Amino acid sequence: MSSSIATSSAHQNAAKGTPTIRLEDVHKMYDLGEVKVHALRGVSLTIYPGEFVAVMGASGSGKSTLMNILGCLDKPSKGRYFLDGSDVSGLTKRELAGIRSRKIGFVFQQFNLLARTSALENVELPTIYAGVPLAERAKRAKEALERVGLSDRANHFPSQLSGGQQQRVAIARGLVNRPSLLLADEPTGNLDSRTSVEIMDIFQKLNDEQGLTVVIVTHESDIAQYAKRALEFRDGKMRHDIAVQNRLIAAQVLPTLPTVEEDDIAEALAGGTATVTTP
Ligand SMILES: Nc1ncnc2c1ncn2[C@@H]1O[C@H](COP(=O)(O)OP(=O)(O)OP(=O)(O)O)[C@@H](O)[C@H]1O
Ligand SMILES: [Mg+2]
Repeated sequence: MSSSIATSSAHQNAAKGTPTIRLEDVHKMYDLGEVKVHALRGVSLTIYPGEFVAVMGASGSGKSTLMNILGCLDKPSKGRYFLDGSDVSGLTKRELAGIRSRKIGFVFQQFNLLARTSALENVELPTIYAGVPLAERAKRAKEALERVGLSDRANHFPSQLSGGQQQRVAIARGLVNRPSLLLADEPTGNLDSRTSVEIMDIFQKLNDEQGLTVVIVTHESDIAQYAKRALEFRDGKMRHDIAVQNRLIAAQVLPTLPTVEEDDIAEALAGGTATVTTP
């Protein structure tokens, strides 16, 4: 049984060609003078185009350190990182920034949108750094907003959008330079459970329909159920690497979840605690 699984995954990998990500014995040491933190302790990992990977693990286990290296925001202290087959571990900050803006989209827990800037302009920003011609920029930004279902909010400021909508703007911003790899560090960490599934629906569609390779960090095992593969980190090492069984499909789960309004009504009928205040 296990050998047939191993054979089929080896076969799949062979058919997928060059890995998007290949880490070879990657270490990361943070040197704070007196204190040195060994945040990654020999991580080797291969991710092929079209994979959807969830990275899990306790706080401090090295997940964000890993994502920063994968996203070319930081470099390994030791070991090598091959992105689309080329070794990027020795590149300068400037070279890494160039690669990042062409190949990688980033989404953070805190959305990181500019407050006094419309949704459309927020999404447009990375096209400026990537040198996209002026005439193309707004068109690309509109396309990216359309992909996350937010065309009708293009002129809203972040404060005029819900948390889920702000995260969708941030995803559109991550997509605007048409990356082949989307990295998201706790993208649903600030969202309620229904909105989290809506965000997973967007990631699943980008992965299934556009072939985008997706890597997300999450604390929640039910969110990891939407990925195809789950990694678990502990103390800077990868302890588990498993194929997700009984994968959830967000488009099927969403109709079964109550909307926010339905939740409020149910709570009111049950004499819920929503209005209880303590002096
Ligand atoms: N810039 C930094 N300088 C020094 N130490 C750091 C730095 N960033 C992270 N660390 C340390 O490296 C270790 C791993 O941190 P990391 O942020 O990767 O954890 P994490 O798994 O993302 O945790 P969380 O779930 O809380 O986000 C921690 O011990 C942390 O204190
Ligand atoms: Mg983190």
